[in-house]
Amino acid sequence: MQEKFVQLKEKAKAELETITSSKVLFDVKAKYVGKSGEVTALLRGMKDVPADQRAAFGKMVNDLKVEISELFNEKEVLLKEKELQEKFDAEKVDVTIPASPVASGSIHPLNIVKNKIFDAFCGMGFEVFEGPEIDTDYYCFQALNIPKDHPARDMQDTFYITDNILLRPHTSPGQVRTMEKKQPPIKILSPGRVYRADDDASHSPMFHQIEGLVVDKGVSLCDLKGLLDEFVKIMFDEDTKTRFRPSYFPFTEPSVEVDVTCCKCHGKGCNLCKGTGWIEILGAGIVNKNVLEMSGIDSNVYSGLAFGLGIERITMIKYGISDIRTLFENNVKFLKQFNRR
Ligand code: PHE
Repeated sequence: MQEKFVQLKEKAKAELETITSSKVLFDVKAKYVGKSGEVTALLRGMKDVPADQRAAFGKMVNDLKVEISELFNEKEVLLKEKELQEKFDAEKVDVTIPASPVASGSIHPLNIVKNKIFDAFCGMGFEVFEGPEIDTDYYCFQALNIPKDHPARDMQDTFYITDNILLRPHTSPGQVRTMEKKQPPIKILSPGRVYRADDDASHSPMFHQIEGLVVDKGVSLCDLKGLLDEFVKIMFDEDTKTRFRPSYFPFTEPSVEVDVTCCKCHGKGCNLCKGTGWIEILGAGIVNKNVLEMSGIDSNVYSGLAFGLGIERITMIKYGISDIRTLFENNVKFLKQFNRR
């Protein structure tokens, strides 16, 4: 019997030598000292042992069980340590490897300019009001002193959905809607997409406008000049000057075209300003009394100023862009130039 014990222990030891993973070790351990293991099976032979030797036999079996278990436990500690080290090695992070680049987007130049215009005017107390993109003939033309069949409509001939409904040719209808709802003082910006039957290097059938409207007591052309002088300094640079030239719009009287000193040559004359030193940036004027009256504002008490600019035009001047279509092509190489992180 003694010999059997020794053999079993040697067999366990030999098998233990061959084990290289803690998972296998667990199974092999069960084969010896588990519930139906070989050592446990020895206890079943107890019935053949003479009664006076049973206690000693039982102790021997238990000692063997403890001895073999300890052998396995020692090996288990070693294997676990080895496996942990292998896991660490496999998961090692090389902190010196350069990180993979994260591509960042950039704000579209039209949005950069739009935000700058908003900042400039909102800093002067303007609020933003957005009107509908599809509007009626009344709001687009009639309420702006452009009756049906008036030749001034040719300037803004546009896309009709029905005889009476069209894609707005300017954001002025939004201003009419504000005047109808609210009595002065009014100080709003009306931004948005507008549509016209135009298509060349400097005109697009769809473009973005921002129009401004101020209605209050005693508003004059001087206020318009002061407001726009301040705006161009913020938009271009401190030295930028404005020049008013007489013009015509049915909804303003008097009407002006506003030029600024060229932001490239500062008035000396260059290819951007075609040698004149000046660049036209927007149309403006004092709101025609008819327009105020049609919207329910007393023109004997109140007067207004209005201006309208194209965001594309300002963007092209500011960044020296010669073809308006570049702004809509979504060419990433072009757009990346505006990434100013
Ligand atoms: N609505 C005009 C246009 O789209 C711009 C403008 C607005 C001119 C206000 C004068 C005053 O051309």
